[in-house]
Amino acid sequence: MQLDLPRYTERFGAISLHGVQRVYELDSGFNNGGLTSEFIRRIGNEEISEIERKMAIVIPIKGERLKLLEGVLSGIPHDCLTIIISNSPRQPVDRYKLEKEALEQFNRFVGRNALILHQKDPGLSDALRQVNYNSLFGPDDTIRNGKAEGMIIGMLLAKAGGKEHVGFIDADNYVPGAVNEYVKIFASGIAMSNTPYTMVRISWIYKPKVSESGVYFSKWGRVSEITNQYLNSLISYYTGFETEIMRTGNSGEHCISLKLAELLTYSSGFSVEPYEIVNVLEEFGGIVPTEYQEAMDKGVEVMQVETRNPHFHEEKGDEHLKEMFSGSLGSIYHSKICHPKLREKIIEDLRSRDMLVEGQEPDILQKISPFKDIDIHQFAKILYERATSFAHSI
Ligand code: GDP
Ligand code: CO
Repeated sequence: MQLDLPRYTERFGAISLHGVQRVYELDSGFNNGGLTSEFIRRIGNEEISEIERKMAIVIPIKGERLKLLEGVLSGIPHDCLTIIISNSPRQPVDRYKLEKEALEQFNRFVGRNALILHQKDPGLSDALRQVNYNSLFGPDDTIRNGKAEGMIIGMLLAKAGGKEHVGFIDADNYVPGAVNEYVKIFASGIAMSNTPYTMVRISWIYKPKVSESGVYFSKWGRVSEITNQYLNSLISYYTGFETEIMRTGNSGEHCISLKLAELLTYSSGFSVEPYEIVNVLEEFGGIVPTEYQEAMDKGVEVMQVETRNPHFHEEKGDEHLKEMFSGSLGSIYHSKICHPKLREKIIEDLRSRDMLVEGQEPDILQKISPFKDIDIHQFAKILYERATSFAHSI
């Protein structure tokens, strides 16, 4: 792959937030080329493969069509460990069983390393309880619904599997070639980064809308434009300089080094992606004290890379957009680094959209604690023994 070196960087405490980088060539050949010019870096297939061997790809899934999942699986490079965390219904039709069978059949042909687990498996709850990790449980003492919850479980399995990086790819993607590109970008970002604490986020070149009059190649999703605007304001209120640096606030497709991932606090459900940025700013921005001195010393890098493939995924309807919208803004609103003026703006915005009544604040979102202190071997041991939905194939 050949792509831009970061051209513009906002520095915020120990964080380097890089502006969007472009891809020039999806495949730049076998040899590791290093610098092509002062501005472009060439990452050879050998270097990419080496990183892919250390990477797990987590696919959170809830009731998506099987054809889409099969396509996504075919796009993931062979050397990555694939981890599917499913919250699909098990009745009246056992959708999870179908997903598991599809994965097993796929693996029989390609011989890939893969795991699948159901989010509501009581054996998984047991394993979490035994290692005293309780932030995924709901009021009824079972694991909550939610995409973030699925992602955390996936990260635990990636850590237990000894991986160094974890990437996330949604299961509702129509284009296997795009999935493949995301992983190549993850690996290239990791190759370019100068610290073990790295996050690589995908910026889609187009998010096409299909209608009767044809395909329209729009640049922005309806929610993401506003999420990015508020994330940028969050930064601007501290630096005193307006910025447009953040372009990937809602990007479900992203990759984190486990060294960084295990330090972060996460926000429940669909607010997970924007809150990752908020929490990176909270922890490493130097505004409030942190216990992670090593990361402060080495620095944290956030990269945003624009794809060549357009992003085609399942359209989920207005209710879902509303949930994403209020979750995204709520996670910014309740941050301890959110400026009071920005809070006012968020409230006004939500009110003008009839998503908040007078005198009300956005809901406080459930937080998920860092998983760095979990006894991961004990967790894996109990999971292997008790989780009946768990399946792995090599
Ligand atoms: P969007 O693309 O961000 O608008 O959101 P989607 O509805 O496509 O969800 C992103 C991914 O998360 C999809 O693959 C969903 O199937 C999956 N997902 C949604 N809710 C849950 C959940 O509760 N648990 C798990 N494990 N996955 C979920
Ligand atoms: Co989607």
